[in-house]
Amino acid sequence: YGLARYTFVVEETPYTRLCSTKNILTVNGQFPGPTLYVHKGDTIIVDVYNKANYNITIHWHGVKQPRYPWSDGPEYITQCPIRPGGNFSQKVIFSTEEGTLWWHAHSDWSRATVHGAIVVYPNNGSSYPFPKPDEEFPIILGEWWKAPIMEVYYQMLQTGGDPNISDAYLINGQPGDLYPCSKQDTFKLKVEKGRTYMLRMVNAAMQELMFFSIAKHNLTVVASDGSYTKPLTREIITISPGQTIDVLLVANQEPDNYYMASHVYASASGVTFDNTTTTAIIEYAGNYTPSSPPLLPLLPYYNDTAASYNFTSSLRSLASAEHPIKVPRDITNKFIFAISVNTLPCEVNNTCQGPNGSRLAASVNNESFVNPSIDILEAYYYRINGVFSNRLPNFPPYIFNFTADNLPSYLDTTKRGTEVKFLKFNSTVELVFQGTNILAGTEHPMHLHGYSFYVVGSGFGNYDPQKDPMKYNLVDPPHQNTIAVPKNGWTAIRFRANNPGVWFMHCHIERHLTWGMDTAFIVLNGKLPDNKIWPPPPDMPPC
Ligand code: C2O
Ligand code: CU
Repeated sequence: YGLARYTFVVEETPYTRLCSTKNILTVNGQFPGPTLYVHKGDTIIVDVYNKANYNITIHWHGVKQPRYPWSDGPEYITQCPIRPGGNFSQKVIFSTEEGTLWWHAHSDWSRATVHGAIVVYPNNGSSYPFPKPDEEFPIILGEWWKAPIMEVYYQMLQTGGDPNISDAYLINGQPGDLYPCSKQDTFKLKVEKGRTYMLRMVNAAMQELMFFSIAKHNLTVVASDGSYTKPLTREIITISPGQTIDVLLVANQEPDNYYMASHVYASASGVTFDNTTTTAIIEYAGNYTPSSPPLLPLLPYYNDTAASYNFTSSLRSLASAEHPIKVPRDITNKFIFAISVNTLPCEVNNTCQGPNGSRLAASVNNESFVNPSIDILEAYYYRINGVFSNRLPNFPPYIFNFTADNLPSYLDTTKRGTEVKFLKFNSTVELVFQGTNILAGTEHPMHLHGYSFYVVGSGFGNYDPQKDPMKYNLVDPPHQNTIAVPKNGWTAIRFRANNPGVWFMHCHIERHLTWGMDTAFIVLNGKLPDNKIWPPPPDMPPC
């Protein structure tokens, strides 16, 4: 139908990092994968071929796919995986998004290397709500293990404990010159004094929130998650897994080399600053003797919750006449989702590496999500019983301080199930994510497919349903698809359920997703024909 068409061949390709070579899954041999360039409102077709030995699915993170969940991609939620040798033509329907989004594998842990940026330009006849930058670059933060990622994944499943920490963090696929055998290939951004650059940042790391900074330069945030923001100028930005942030960088310093650097926030095992700092270099044009080493920016300490929260809670929607916002005011559905890391009994033997020989798990309202064997979308569409149930419990009926220091240990254990929530078409939702201190609190970047939502409030400690709503921002709350819920704190989001379909919701920290910090919303069809989901394409991968 004359739509722009792209080919994604998923295949194993040898890549060398940190002095050793391994095969990784790539798209078209590239790592990071190819950037897709579209305009607001475009529909494209991506023909995905699986030439790897693993099942694969591809997800278009932040693309709402109005009424078309069929090519959203999460395995066993909207499709069964594409088997080795199989293929699937995915229609990707852009609607209101504008800015940077990304695509990634949504099966097992393949997204470690199967990911790339999506650039959504304004549609013809409109322009950026800020002066046009001279040049633009994707900046993709990632994570690298020397071992094959599937080995890391299976080992975690087998031991029931934490996964092995990655061996390096990456900027555009490179660990940077503080790591062994990496100096040659350190990512370099060549700039000219006086020009403005837009960095389209994606945090594609698997397990960690990241801090990012450039020595001596400010960064001005102008968009996040494919929505424009009020300009926010900072020395350091925080970006959570799944999130995208567009920043403007003015090359206004003396011509020299400057480090841009990124390191983790809230590492699982408290690794130190030095071996988690990845670097890239800003190189000014001109004749000068470069500082050696380049100036390093100051980054917060790895567990600086306050720095992370300070940044995240400062984002505001642009909310201009040209980019108006519509925060739902009358709310039909109010939910509180307690999100916890928990334990499950060790089924294999007594040597699981979780606390007291248990297996680590994670949950939403004490339900640890289990992938069904056929996808929820087809089960829903074809009315196949026994695949999932609409019984996600409400906020646990006991009342206590979820973020207290010493929670009773019976709370550690969770239940397993495939529980979803039904929503009526066009109903309005207020969802409060409540972090808990069960086992230990951490930040959880919660992500919803098929929607952007308004982040109307957040804070540390327990959500107070009487007092906290009085402080909501209904004027210019940020419009996100992923939001980091503060450590031992809460975040309130609102959206209108106007996109029928099956939409996954999960923590974007990969181990938490695997452990079950997930659920799905099934948004029912409305009455009118244009309120219903489209029929499935003929080439859905078979279950
Ligand atoms: Cu970026 Cu469900 O994913
Ligand atoms: Cu999490």
